[in-house]
Amino acid sequence: MKILIINGPNLNLLGTREPDTYGTESFEEYFSKLQFKFRDTELSYYQSNIEGELIDRLQQAGKEFDGVVLNAAAYTHTSVGIGDAVKAIGIPVVEVHISNTFSRENFRHTSFISPNAKGVIIGFGLQSYDLGIQSFLKK
Ligand code: DQA
Repeated sequence: MKILIINGPNLNLLGTREPDTYGTESFEEYFSKLQFKFRDTELSYYQSNIEGELIDRLQQAGKEFDGVVLNAAAYTHTSVGIGDAVKAIGIPVVEVHISNTFSRENFRHTSFISPNAKGVIIGFGLQSYDLGIQSFLKK
């Protein structure tokens, strides 16, 4: 099983960015823990702050991976293009968010990803990614 985690804008700053909302651990640190925990699964990680790069990576992932765990971050709420890419690629995409977007501003209650996602995991901190991976493994 090959799973790609894709993170969108500003998630490269995890650990220092708004720690009350997103915690104090960098994604690189957390990713190492995920790789250890899911050592029988081939996990990869990609991050970009650029919408088109995220779309390119999703398209490529459709040819290389069995599934994607996607946190499109702020683009979740704005990007028709990323939503369309999730629909276009032939592999399942699980949408995840660290914070509970529904307990935050109204503009975070809309997602262009959710209608095309296999499922959505919101508000469990970094554990949202862990749960996203498990959703591909558990039958
Ligand atoms: C986020 C929630 C988004 O609203 C926000 O723009 C992010 C992170 C989350 O994981 O909680 O950058 O996707």
